[in-house]
Amino acid sequence: MRGLVRIISGSVVVVTISIAAAFWYYSTRDAREPSMLAFQAHCASCHGGDLKGTDQGPKLLDQPTSGDSAIELIQSIERYHSELVAKAEFPEPMIKALALYISEQRQQIPSSAGSHRHTIPEGIVESQHHDFSVELVTEVGKGPYSIAPLPDGRILLVEKVRGLSIIDRSGQHSGLVEGAPRAWSEIIRLRGSYVVLGAMLDVELHPAFATNGWIYLSHSDRCQLDCGSPWPVTMVRVVRGRLDGNRWVDSEVIWSVDKDKYTVVPDTVASGRIAFDQAGFGYVTVGGKSTYDNLHDMNTPYGKIHRFRDDGAIPTDNPFWQAEHLRDPTSSRNTVWSYGHRTAQGLAADPRSGDIWATEMGPRGGDEINLVQRGGNYGWPLYTEGLDYNAEYISIGKDLALDFEFSDTIPPVVDFTPAPSLSNFTFHSGEKFPGWRNDLLVGSLRAQTLFRVRIEGGEVIEREKLITKLGRIRDVEMGADGLVYVLIEHDATGSLLRLVPAA
Ligand code: HEC
Repeated sequence: MRGLVRIISGSVVVVTISIAAAFWYYSTRDAREPSMLAFQAHCASCHGGDLKGTDQGPKLLDQPTSGDSAIELIQSIERYHSELVAKAEFPEPMIKALALYISEQRQQIPSSAGSHRHTIPEGIVESQHHDFSVELVTEVGKGPYSIAPLPDGRILLVEKVRGLSIIDRSGQHSGLVEGAPRAWSEIIRLRGSYVVLGAMLDVELHPAFATNGWIYLSHSDRCQLDCGSPWPVTMVRVVRGRLDGNRWVDSEVIWSVDKDKYTVVPDTVASGRIAFDQAGFGYVTVGGKSTYDNLHDMNTPYGKIHRFRDDGAIPTDNPFWQAEHLRDPTSSRNTVWSYGHRTAQGLAADPRSGDIWATEMGPRGGDEINLVQRGGNYGWPLYTEGLDYNAEYISIGKDLALDFEFSDTIPPVVDFTPAPSLSNFTFHSGEKFPGWRNDLLVGSLRAQTLFRVRIEGGEVIEREKLITKLGRIRDVEMGADGLVYVLIEHDATGSLLRLVPAA
C-alpha cells in the first residue's frame, strides 16, 4: 500500500514538473525565437530593431526593392550580405528563418497571443470587386469554432468548450441544445488558447437538409477508465442528429475509430472539419492527434482525411479498403481517403465540380490550400515549405526514416509563406456579391485576415486580403440571406460578424 502511495505521489510530482516546464517553454517561446534574436544581433544595427531602417541600411518593412517573397528575401540576404553571413556562421536554415522573420514583420502577422486582439472595421471597406461593411451579429462565448447557417435564417453555433447552440434571426442565443454530445471544459488556457480534451468541433448540414433535417457534428469523444486508460483520452468522432425544438434527437454515430486509437494529445490540433461532395459522400479531417510516425500508417486515423457515406456506411471504393478477414480489427484504414496532412483546419466542396479542398496549417511558413485527391499523400512531415519554430528545418520525417519521394506527394495549389495560420473557408455563392462567385473566402488565425482566392484550372488567378486585423477567424460560411458570416475568437469570448454589400 505504501509503495503504491509513493508511486502515485511520485507520478504527480513528475507530471506537475513536466506541465510547468511545458508551460514555461511555450509561454517564453517568442522571446527566445532564434531568427528574431539573430536579426537583433546581426541586422538591427543597420536596418533598425523595428525594421524601419537607419542611416546605415534601408527600411525592410515595406516591400523591399529587390523582391518580396521569402525566396527573393533569401536571395537578397545572400547577395548583399554574403560576408556577414559567412562571418556569423549561421546554422544553415537561419537565412530562411530570417527571411520568414522579415516577411512576418512586414505582413504584420502577430504572435499567437497577440492575435486575440480584434477590431471591427468602421464604415465602408473597399476591395477589388465589392465594397462592403462589417456588422456585428452577436457576441459569442469562449472557444467559438464553427457555424452552420440554417435555411430559415437561424445559425447553429459550436463553442469548443460549451457545445452546440442556436442563434435566432434577431441574434438571440438559445441555451445549449440538450442531448447533443458533451463538450468538456478546458484544462487550462494558455496565452488565449484553450487546452481541451473533449472539445466540440465542426457542425455541417446534410446537402439535403431541407428535406431530411440531418445535422452532422464532429467532436472529440472522451473516455478514461472505460477505455482502459488511467487518464482522459480523446479522438475525433462524427455523429448526426436532428433538432426537435432545442433538443438533439435521432442521434447516430457516423464515423468513429477503435478506442485503442484515442490519445492524450490535446484537441488543439484535432481539426474535425466536415464537408460533403455532390455525390453525397461525407469527409472529415483528423489532425495529428498522435506522434508523427503514425501519420503514414494507414491503420491509424491521424493526419488523414476520411470518407464515409451519409448514413455511416463505409464506401468499398475507398483507396485503402480491405476485407474484414485481412484487416486488423482496430484499424481505421477503410475510411482513409488521403494522408500526410498536418492540421487540416478547413474543408469544403467546390459547388461547381464537387471537388474537395482543404486548408492546412504548416509549421512556420508553408500553410497550404490543397485539392484533396483519392489516395493522395500530402507530404507532412517529410516535405513542407515551412520551418520549425526553432528556426531549423523540419527533421521529423527524416528522423522517422519516412521513405517516399517528393514526386510521390501532391503539392499544394496555393502556398502561404509566411504562414497566416489558415483556418476554415467557404466557396462564395449567392447573389449579394456576384463578383466573388465561386471564390474561396479563407479565414486565418494569427494573421487575423480574411483572404479571397480565385482558383481556375488549378491556378491562383486572384488573391486579395479583404479584411485585416479582424481577429482570429475560426469559420467563414454563406448565410441563407446571401451574406458572408465570419466567426472570430478573442481571448475569452468571440463575435459573429457578417459582411454586407455597400449600397
Ligand atoms: C552594415 C549594415 C548592414 C547590416 C549589418 C545588414 N544590412 Fe542588410 N542591407 C544594408 C544595406 C546598405 C542594404 C542595401 C544594399 C544595396 O542596395 O546595395 C541592405 C540590403 C538588405 C536587403 C535587401 C533590401 C531591399 O530593399 O531589397 C535585405 C533583405 C537585407 N539587407 C537583410 C539583412 C539581414 C537579414 C541582415 C542581418 C543578417 C542584414 N541585412 C544586415 C545594410 C546592412
